[in-house]
Order: sequence, then structure tokens, then C-alpha cells
Amino acid sequence: MNSERLVATRIGGLAACVLLLAWSGCSDSNDGSGVNPGDPVPIVTNSPANNVFNTGAAGGAAPVGTNTLTDTTGAQPMPVPVDTSMAAGAGDPFCDALSVFRTSCQGCHGEQLVGGAPMPLVSYEDLLAPAISDPSSTVSQLVGVRIHDTQSPMPPLSQTPLTTEQMGTLDAWLAAGAPNAVAGCSEDILAPPPASLTEGEVVWPADCQERYEIRAHDGAGGPYRVPAGAELNIDISVPVPWAGQGSGAVQALAIRPITNNARVVHHWILYSGLLDFVTSWSPGKPMETFPEGVGVHMPTSGNFRLNMHYYNVGNTEAELDDSGLEVCITRDLKPNTATTYMFSGNATVPPGGRVENVSTCTVNASEQVHLITSSPHMHSYGVYAKLEIVRANGSVEVVEDAPFNWEDQHITPVDAVLNDGDKVRVTCVYENNTDRTITFGDSSADEMCFNFARYYPMDAFTCGGGFGF
Ligand code: HEC
Repeated sequence: MNSERLVATRIGGLAACVLLLAWSGCSDSNDGSGVNPGDPVPIVTNSPANNVFNTGAAGGAAPVGTNTLTDTTGAQPMPVPVDTSMAAGAGDPFCDALSVFRTSCQGCHGEQLVGGAPMPLVSYEDLLAPAISDPSSTVSQLVGVRIHDTQSPMPPLSQTPLTTEQMGTLDAWLAAGAPNAVAGCSEDILAPPPASLTEGEVVWPADCQERYEIRAHDGAGGPYRVPAGAELNIDISVPVPWAGQGSGAVQALAIRPITNNARVVHHWILYSGLLDFVTSWSPGKPMETFPEGVGVHMPTSGNFRLNMHYYNVGNTEAELDDSGLEVCITRDLKPNTATTYMFSGNATVPPGGRVENVSTCTVNASEQVHLITSSPHMHSYGVYAKLEIVRANGSVEVVEDAPFNWEDQHITPVDAVLNDGDKVRVTCVYENNTDRTITFGDSSADEMCFNFARYYPMDAFTCGGGFGF
């Protein structure tokens, strides 16, 4: 193994290994330094065979990381701050790029793959590997494409986008020919790895009365099996778990996503019946709670439709999964019952590139209506979504105005009010580069134009004549 390849080996893990060397015996930091268990711990080892932490100093003796001075008066060793500008890799194009991969990509493209990400972006070797979707390109080449892809960007639209500066860092590294680090990248200069995208704080509201799980299954009592190499969009029927358990109406007070096999769950949408949107999830989405005094209407019989999107491309193993959600309900109803209104627009898309469909409906409300969330819904041709309220005096209030990708099932909290007589404008922008007219329909070759907006009070309004098809 030459030193170039060593630089590329999982840098985060290696750093931990070096620091714990004397106890853990990490195999990939076996640097021939002759350190044995029980020996004093060298804080940083720095030998020719392990130049990941090499400062570049001649002789390689300068340690990087925490340093200690021994006080000759016999007091405790005192830590000395380290000037990280001298750390290995500071200002190095690859180390800078690696910092961006850490903060913005490794939540999914980490050593543990999450959310259907097909490959890690952890080491230099990972970036030089042939891409799974197109083995004639390297992963680094596709990185250059996907960070600028407006329709299917990386990171996906559900995540915090790259800043201009981060994008510039990746572009600069790619423009330089995607070189490896000259002298390794020390931990000191790298951004810390991201928190897991599957963990979030779970604090159930104090007034939760009962909690139930709604999870993917195979119909025979086991988890769902996602075949090797597959990309699947499947509907799983789950009986309403609290049906028959009590009488009267039920409200949800909080919804927690449950991620079982983070590797393959790309996103999911929960409907009650065919199209009554309840909630959705994509990696990193935290638990949902609702404004004070608001509970979300839940069905008390029938089935939920859990629409799972699984992504197991690039994996040679089948994977099992029973992800889903946990709902806390109350039968002691909050004063405001929220439910979902399906604002609908024109989903007919003629061929010819970018098409902007604007549909307007007039609010017919018995009282003032509060919109609390916005969730646009289109299929794969949808690229941009907007939801606006046009007041009687002509002023316009924007509720949602953002790029859209069908993989991005976001629920944006909003705080807007609808009055009788307001107009609601639903804009769905599509890119249709096929030579056929795409029409409304359920399959992924068809389109939809909706905004599933949560509002209260339930049933206090209608808008227009229903579906826009
Ligand atoms: C929330 C999870 C997530 C994050 C964060 C994320 N990706 Fe991805 N990435 C995916 C998924 C899922 C796929 C596969 C589906 C696709 O190609 O859109 C993918 C695919 C890719 C591909 C295409 C691989 C191929 O073989 O076609 C590249 C390149 C890529 N990601 C780069 C990045 C970069 C660079 C970042 C950070 C700037 C990033 N990704 C952040 C989930 C993520």
C-alpha cells in the first residue's frame, strides 16, 4: 500500500484508531511504530507508513493534535493549543472537499449508507471508483454533475443545500483534476462528521393518551423484503391500529418516524384511503408535533396506505425493512381539529420542455381558516412548486415557493390565514422532455399537481371545484 492510498483510507475511523492505538489495536493504523498494549499512549504517531497525520515537516516528527508540555516543577502536564493552520492538509483542495463531503453528504454517503445512497463518499478511493449508475464515469465526475443538477441535486432537496462557498470548494477540487491530498488531511482541519440523519430527539407531548405503530410488512407477519439492486415504489396496506379500541373521534398529537433499515428507505408517504395525505418522511425529518391547541384528525376505521419508496441499487444483498411511524393519539380532543386540504392544479403537461401550470380557486369559508403546513405533490416531471394566497385587494401572500423533486416529500410548517373570498393559486412547474402529453394519473409515468395543506378548523372551507383534471 503506498502512502497515496493510505491517505484515502477511511480517515475518520483511522484518526480514532490512532488516538486509541495502545488500547484498541485498530488494524488499519498498524504503522510499525512498535506500540504495544500497556505502553504509554503516543498521542499522534507519525511514521512514513502512516502519513495521514503528517504535518509535512521534514523528518515527520511534529505531532498534530493535542500536544503536552511537561512542567518541570512536577505539576500536571499542561495542554498547549495547537495552531491548526499548520495541520496536515490545511488549504489542500482534497481536504477542503472532504470537509464538505463530511458535513453535507456523509449523513447518507457515510460508512453506513443511509436513505438509499448507493456508495460512500468517505475516502479518496470512494471518489475514484466507477459510479454505480454509469461505470464509465468516476464517482467524482458524477459529484460534479449532481451538485449542479437543479432537478435532482445532491444533497437532495429535502436536505440543507450546499452554500455557494461549499459548491465552489468542490468545483475547485474537480477543476484541479480531483487530486488526492498532498500530505493527508488531519482530523483537525476536517469538519466533524454529521449527526446521524436517522436520529432525532423524541419528546412525546405530555397529553398523549395512546401510542401505536404503523409499519411496513410483507403481508405474512414479517418485514418487507427489498430485493438486491431494486428501486421500488410500493403501497403497503396497514389497518388503522386503534380501530375498534374506543369510541368517538381521534386526534394525533405527534408523529415519530421509525427507521428500521436506514440503508434502503428512501422516503415514504402515509395516506388514509387513496389520497388523503396524512404525513410523509425523508431522511433527517424529525418527529412532528402540532401547534398548541391543535390535534390532527385521524380515521377510526379502514386502512392506511403506506407508500414506501425503497432504493437498494448498488447492493448485491436483499434487505429487510419494517420502517414506518409511531403516532400518539388523544380521544380528549383539542379545541382545533386540523386535517388536510388537497389544493389541486392542472396536471396535464404537453411536450416541449418547461411548462408552468397555474390554477386558481376561490375560498368559500364559513370562518377564518389557518394553514399550518404545506406539502407539494407531483411526480417525476415536477420541478417547482408554488402556493399563493391572493387577497380580495389583490395583494399576494406566498405560502410555498421552492424547487420540487418527487423524491423530496417535505412538509413545511407555515402560518397563514385564509378568508372567505380569497383566491388560492397553485403553480406546478414541469419539465417534459418526452414527445407525449402527460396527463393526471397514479402511475409514475403520469402526473399530479397538489398541495396537501394541513389546516383548521376541519371542514371550514372549500376551494373551487375539486381536482384540476
Ligand atoms: C439524504 C441523503 C443524501 C445526501 C445527504 C446526499 N445524497 Fe447523494 N444520493 C442519495 C441517494 C438516495 C442517491 C441515489 C439516488 C439518486 O441518484 O438520486 C444518491 C446518489 C448520488 C450520486 C449518484 C451516484 C450514481 O452512481 O449515480 C452522487 C454523485 C451523489 N449522490 C453525490 C452526493 C454528494 C456530493 C452529496 C453531498 C454534497 C450527497 N450526494 C448528499 C442520497 C443522499
